[in-house]
Amino acid sequence: MVEGALKENALLGKTVVVTGGGTGLGKAMATYFSVLGANIVITSRKIDVLEKTAVEIENHTGNPVLSVVCDVRNMEEVERLYAKSIERFGAVDVLVNNAAGNFISPTERLSANAFSTIIDIVLKGTANCTLTFGKKWIENKQQANVLNIITTYAFTGSGYVVPSAVAKGGVLTMTRSLAAEWGHYGIRHNAIAPGPFPTKGAWDRLLPGELADKFNFKNRVPLKRVGDHQELANLAAFMISDFAAYINGEIITIDGGEWLQGAGQMNGMEAIPTEMWDEIEDTIRKNNK
Ligand code: HXC
Ligand code: NAP
Repeated sequence: MVEGALKENALLGKTVVVTGGGTGLGKAMATYFSVLGANIVITSRKIDVLEKTAVEIENHTGNPVLSVVCDVRNMEEVERLYAKSIERFGAVDVLVNNAAGNFISPTERLSANAFSTIIDIVLKGTANCTLTFGKKWIENKQQANVLNIITTYAFTGSGYVVPSAVAKGGVLTMTRSLAAEWGHYGIRHNAIAPGPFPTKGAWDRLLPGELADKFNFKNRVPLKRVGDHQELANLAAFMISDFAAYINGEIITIDGGEWLQGAGQMNGMEAIPTEMWDEIEDTIRKNNK
């Protein structure tokens, strides 16, 4: 089991809003931030899911968790999320833009609405939350930070998830842009680009049915395993904490080397059996003569 990495009370006194915090990686991060003493606000479209998670976290840590229903595509609901967070905790110190929508599909099968839906949740949802919280922080002269959860195909692009890749690429650019523009207000912006971390939400939509066996992600990773949720939570907790106070505009990859494995031209040579390397070396040496 992966252990928590930060010292006790590392986030004591901070209020952290995690969008999409009722499930998957958002839930893992919210849980660990709460373990470290933070007040938590989790938000998504489903109140039953949020409330179940909130109770689970509170029972585990003894620290308060507020559930607020909010579709990040709707600016009025995002403003209500901010107001509810302030009403309960007085201030918000950290925004984690984690909510996302995604599914695999050949791009030519997508309707205009399917494409827009993903862009609206991932890119515009992140912008809606960042703008709403950022304006208040600036107005109140408050130090704060934003952590955006992107993906490694934000760097490379990827077929079959094109709207998600486009949107996550936009969030990457927003992270770097606002790190520069809002740094002087004392507002940091960073992002985490996770590789494969099994969650129901992602696996149901990216590897449904038999695809989970056919495209077992762990085979694509040099470390030959997928990520553990606590590994991501450890990194996220560090990035939002005061220990990372001088980190601004950074995109940190946590993928066991997956995307570089795919990018390096000769990395596929790992398929060559060890016993063949003598023969290959001989052939190359002969060719040299
Ligand atoms: C083609 C599809 C489709 C599919 C939906 N649509 N699913 N088109 N193939 N499989 C179309 C619909 O027909 C509709 O277009 C449009 O998309 C919007 O669909 P709705 O169901 O009306 O939208 P909504 O209820 O808002 O749901 C959004 C959603 C859904 C994204 C479609 O899956 C969702 O709620 N997802 C939230 C959680 C999630 O996606 N988690 C995974 C994140 S994983 P028309 O034209 O018919 O109106 C992730 C990991 C990245 O990001 C990297 C991993 C390694
Ligand atoms: P997940 O459990 O499906 O998380 C997505 C969350 O977003 C859900 O809680 C969902 O809740 C919420 N959400 C979706 N649409 C929303 C909307 N319009 N408004 C508010 N909330 C909304 O999947 P996950 O794997 O944990 O993904 C979390 C993040 O990690 C995402 O940003 C994803 O892109 C990223 N990521 C995941 C992986 C991975 O391997 N798992 C890899 C790379 C990046 P509701 O449906 O209740 O609204």
